[in-house]
Amino acid sequence: MNILLIGSGGRESALAWKISQSPLLNKLYVAPGNPGTAEIAENINISVSDFNGIEKIVIDKEIDLVVVGPENPLIDGISDHLLNAKGHKIPLVLGPKADGARLEGSKDFAKQFMERYNIPTAKYKTFTGDTYNQAVEFLKTLKAPYVLKADGPAAGKGVIIEQDFDKACAELKEMFDGKFGKSSASVVIEEFLSGIELSVFVLTDGRGGYVILPEAKDYKRIGENDQGLNTGGMGSVSPVPFADNIFMDKVENQIIRPTINGFLRENIDYKGFIFFGLINVNNNPFVIEYNVRMGDPETESVMMRINSDLVELMRSAAAGSLSGKKCLIDSRTAATVMLVAGGYPEKYEKGKIISGIENVKNSQVFHAGTASKNNNIVSDGGRVICVTALGSDINSALNTALDDANKINFDGAYHRRDIGKDLLKFTIK
Ligand code: AMP
Ligand code: GLY
Repeated sequence: MNILLIGSGGRESALAWKISQSPLLNKLYVAPGNPGTAEIAENINISVSDFNGIEKIVIDKEIDLVVVGPENPLIDGISDHLLNAKGHKIPLVLGPKADGARLEGSKDFAKQFMERYNIPTAKYKTFTGDTYNQAVEFLKTLKAPYVLKADGPAAGKGVIIEQDFDKACAELKEMFDGKFGKSSASVVIEEFLSGIELSVFVLTDGRGGYVILPEAKDYKRIGENDQGLNTGGMGSVSPVPFADNIFMDKVENQIIRPTINGFLRENIDYKGFIFFGLINVNNNPFVIEYNVRMGDPETESVMMRINSDLVELMRSAAAGSLSGKKCLIDSRTAATVMLVAGGYPEKYEKGKIISGIENVKNSQVFHAGTASKNNNIVSDGGRVICVTALGSDINSALNTALDDANKINFDGAYHRRDIGKDLLKFTIK
């Protein structure tokens, strides 16, 4: 098969690495990709929002399967575009159409969907600027901290958690006044849930068939012990020790199946990955958010633990024939450590020469924000490169990843050393 993977981050580097191992693969293209994907595939320099250009690649390169990595093209209808194209053979497309992608594109849509199918989630109401006074009344019925979410996409920044009631009201006003552009014209206000988060990933085929992929936990704060500002993700581990059989049965019965049955009932032809952002509240799972793609940097750890042929699973999902298929999972632990630019997630510099990648022997290196310049690999984003290792437990996977992360250098490089450490208390039985 000829496969076109859309995207350019660490997630796509890890997907490309896994896809490249498949016996079903003839040729892999990544659009636009990065220097990491260039080592195992052919990059095509095109924007993920250029749907006509991507359609042309599909024709020119005789693509059989398109795999869409990031959410924005999905929310904007890339799958509809490719599947409705006329005058040539239509490829299989893995990634929901715009109707399914609303699960990530609109928090209010996601909350209403969960309400319709009794999927456990925080109590909520949605308001607009016209109903500001009712919004304040609703806030009064909740306890601090107050959770305010821009309805539309806001590059992961649209959620405000505020302790102080008056500040929450002021924040709400700013959101209605355009703090996140039109994405915050509507705001979901919800009850704060207290617990530990995890990410559960499912691949589904639009016909009720699904497989559950390895779960993972990501680490969002810049500082160790989850201190400091939020980032795009500083590392991840898989498996998550508290996600035992009893917990995962609840996830499957109370969350995954009702979600997929909801798609069938509402004629949402959802072929692709579903990312359930969950929180464990006293051993019961609640949905914090849906995403319509894989997570980053969870994918880096998840891909290392999939023993099945991912291409076979993705092809079956995109073709509507996943029923009866299984995902074989490596029982070892994977840990991912992200190297970021000094100053990130605030102001940081790009263009720093990266050295030492070739010295990494026991881990897998996945590029995130890198570029090629004058025969060097240089930093080209806040999250630059990640190192993923397998081990018999969290400590051994993390130690290998940290040893290898220390071999990679660029001016200002920083990484957390405590990825997964908070989960050790669950592993001592
Ligand atoms: P989201 O963009 O919906 O994932 O929200 C970003 C982060 O805010 C989540 O990963 C949680 O850490 C936190 N969060 C969102 N909603 C809630 C909630 N209802 N209770 C507690 N934390 C939340
Ligand atoms: N790791 C969280 C996300 O990809 O949204």
